[in-house]
Amino acid sequence: MSVSANTETTDILWQRALDLDAADPLAGYRDHFVGTDTDLSYLDGNSLGRPLKRTVTDIGSFIQDSWGGRLIRGWDEEWLELPQKIGDQLGRAVLGAAPGQTIIADSTTVVLYKLIRAALAAVTDPARTEIVLDTDNFPTDRYLVEGIAREEGLTLRWIDADPASGVTVEQVRDATGPATAVVVLSQIAYRSGFLADLPAITAAVHDAGALVVWDLCHSAGSVEIALDDADVDFAAGCTYKYLNGGPGSPAFAYVNARHLAGLQQPIWGWMGRKDAFEMGPGYEAAPGIRGFLSGTPAIFGMLAMRGTLDLIEEAGMASLRGKSRLLTAYALELYDAWLAPAGVQLSTPRDAELRGSHVTIDHPAFREMTATLWDQDVIPDFRAPQGIRIGLSPLSTSFAELYRGVEAIRALLAGQESGSASPAGPAGAPGGFDKTTDVPLN
Ligand SMILES: Cc1ncc(COP(=O)(O)O)c(C=O)c1O
Repeated sequence: MSVSANTETTDILWQRALDLDAADPLAGYRDHFVGTDTDLSYLDGNSLGRPLKRTVTDIGSFIQDSWGGRLIRGWDEEWLELPQKIGDQLGRAVLGAAPGQTIIADSTTVVLYKLIRAALAAVTDPARTEIVLDTDNFPTDRYLVEGIAREEGLTLRWIDADPASGVTVEQVRDATGPATAVVVLSQIAYRSGFLADLPAITAAVHDAGALVVWDLCHSAGSVEIALDDADVDFAAGCTYKYLNGGPGSPAFAYVNARHLAGLQQPIWGWMGRKDAFEMGPGYEAAPGIRGFLSGTPAIFGMLAMRGTLDLIEEAGMASLRGKSRLLTAYALELYDAWLAPAGVQLSTPRDAELRGSHVTIDHPAFREMTATLWDQDVIPDFRAPQGIRIGLSPLSTSFAELYRGVEAIRALLAGQESGSASPAGPAGAPGGFDKTTDVPLN
């Protein structure tokens, strides 16, 4: 079936993008981000969020005034408290977590390691010898759990997750029981964008007498989260996706207050010790969430996310989630009109309740095509074996930007089908649109 642009459909879809942007209560937030005044279509905010314009001045003044002006005094005056201060703001704005349970530290990988080991240490029943995880969880989660199982002599119980959706409550109920110690899952599947039922799964894990560690990398800043209400035990996530912390910005760790008193995390560094600057003999964990630190906090990496947390507090996560649902729904409209007829598979749930903020589509041509798209300033990401992920950041992605990106994919598929360029899109579409239609397929 043809994927060349039908002018009437194209006009309707373009007009719809314009209408959705005009009606979007968050549209003005796009102006807060660097680079949004160009025709580049950025569809990878689920991997690395755009920087805020404010970050340019915040980092500049940090160097000038704070680091350059206060020098080593900065630690006592402000920096030492930042991991908890920003952690509390993140808890309030994004995680549904009361103060004192969230801290910024390390990378997600390291934080997850600490949390899983801490969760295991909190399990006292020697009959609980299994860690439950799923086959489609993010690689770092799987590798960590495999390594920890080897270190601790534990058994892995794998949930066979559908790569086009994700882990269900029933699967968790089936996989857990008297032998389960800890369950490790992602709230949003990195591949499909499937949104797991965090409250129901947490309750199912607790019914089995086990503890749960959630990976929130793809959900922090894209969906509403209520960790305290769901009585989640432990959670971790990164801050460089929907929180715009920048490449390699540190992760966050959430530990439910009821676990904090006896917490035993495995990386005993001086920053997590009681009275760190006493530098005394032996390790005694600092009280509360601070005991979760290990080494010197990455202050630079924490600065950028503050701007996004301020914006989220102003707009509210409910409105971000509302926009995200509209963005993914519009992505599905474009998919149905243009990509399904070209044989592209949808690997994300159609039910808006079951998906986060990215849409994954599969086609054998996508591996090679992604490089061409990037050359055209259309930037999704590729996930092996043949998936393109269209990541939609509620604060910075516009509907017109999404239209331009998917139109470019359509045009490349059409060019491949006919062996030539596809006809141009509707008059009035931004400049990048025309450019995408006459690029030869490589
Ligand atoms: C779901 C998920 N978990 C974990 C990670 C790994 O995080 P890090 O590289 O910050 O350790 C990522 C990175 O993209 C991710 O998407």
